[in-house]
Amino acid sequence: MARLRTVHRCRECGAGSAQWSGRCPGCGDWNTLVEEVEGPSPRRAAAAGVAGGDRPVLVADVEMAEWRARPTGIGELDRVLGGGLVPGSATLVGGEPGIGKSTLLLQAAAAMAAAGARCLLVSAEESKQQVRLRAERLGALEAGLWLVSQTSLGGIVAAVDEVKPDVLVVDSIQTVFDPEIGSAPGSVVQVRECAHQLVGLAKQRGLATVLVGHVTKDGALAGPRVLEHVVDTVLSFEGERHHSLRLLRAAKHRFGPAGELGLFEMAGGGLVGVPDPGALFLGDRRPGVPGSVVVPAMEGQRPLLVEVQALVTRNEAPNPRRSAQGLDAGRVSLVLAVLGERAGVPLSRYDVYASAVGGVRIVEPAADLAVALALASAATGRPLPSDLVACGEIGLAGELRRVGHAERRLSEAARLGFRRAVVAASAPDGPAGLEVVKLASLDEALRLVGLAGPSQK
Ligand code: TYD
Ligand code: MG
Repeated sequence: MARLRTVHRCRECGAGSAQWSGRCPGCGDWNTLVEEVEGPSPRRAAAAGVAGGDRPVLVADVEMAEWRARPTGIGELDRVLGGGLVPGSATLVGGEPGIGKSTLLLQAAAAMAAAGARCLLVSAEESKQQVRLRAERLGALEAGLWLVSQTSLGGIVAAVDEVKPDVLVVDSIQTVFDPEIGSAPGSVVQVRECAHQLVGLAKQRGLATVLVGHVTKDGALAGPRVLEHVVDTVLSFEGERHHSLRLLRAAKHRFGPAGELGLFEMAGGGLVGVPDPGALFLGDRRPGVPGSVVVPAMEGQRPLLVEVQALVTRNEAPNPRRSAQGLDAGRVSLVLAVLGERAGVPLSRYDVYASAVGGVRIVEPAADLAVALALASAATGRPLPSDLVACGEIGLAGELRRVGHAERRLSEAARLGFRRAVVAASAPDGPAGLEVVKLASLDEALRLVGLAGPSQK
């Protein structure tokens, strides 16, 4: 008879403790411990009975034919996956509720079915009718696309046995449960064990498996971190609720580069890939307005030209407002301090608003110079040339520092029609058609664009 015991397990990090406490001893989060009943896991018990299983071979002799990635047919998803879904692999797609995970995977499954794959969609949250309605809306009623509305692990395995799919999508892993495990559906133990077993099934049957996972408000995958270790690939699907832009990132990828970025727009007919985001971020730009400059930012391996805007308004109160949208608040504070102390642009008596436009988040220090120029432009009321891009990290001494991928950033700026780039002194030369101005300090940059000197405000 298996022994059951009660533990208090953290919903965030998965740490267990015998006693309940308000704060998790593992990650320090508050009110995350839930009581669970644990026995020996069925999977582990089964594994213990298997002796050996695999024999050593030479690496060069390993058979690869069955492990070629299968394109999903969704260009931006394939870009992030480095080609497609690998048979026998497990991919976790995380994102906030409502961001478009079910839409993305239904579109991908339909496209793969259209290309001849057998795809099984396990809907553990929505009814079959809801999924069909969405499929109609997306034009995704494909012949090879199977659907089962199932939450029990055994039911899912039975459906896989019946359909014998090439691709399995489970939406979502948090709602799948195994009655053999004592804990409640959605608990850490359930999610972890069910994921383990589905990943085992994927490997055993050569199934390309995709698990959908919800994330909490601060972006962590709900459930233990251990879920991320179980799968081969972790994709995160992000976006601002009020924008149609969606970003897909590979946070972990065993079959290709991590950090790749895919871009989509959520439209009436589902997600539409954005292979060339140039116009997307700069489309509504108004030239000649003070407080605006474009930064050639990098998202993963991909250059994105994004407008940084700033607005300053006088406020004599002791604690003026600092607002940073789509930018790193800490870096904006640093830039404000350097502007005041090293470049003669004190903003301590102003409310400051700085933002990256278009629903994208730029947290890399390469945006420092653009933030500084936008702030100085807003403070002086003088607009910056509209064909200018600025890129560089700012040090505490007011010096400009070189950033990575400079060539790719500058090429993209030139491709989109920008004529001048302000960069750090040690940066490389730019492509033809782009005048690259290399400067040592923020002070020099302000002088170059005519923003040094007395304020007009
Ligand atoms: P969904 O894929 O259900 O999100 P998730 O699975 O991540 O919870 O998408 C939900 C949102 O997407 C919903 O607010 C409606 C919107 N949407 C569109 O704008 N167009 C569409 O074609 C579809 C299917 C959804
Ligand atoms: Mg969903």
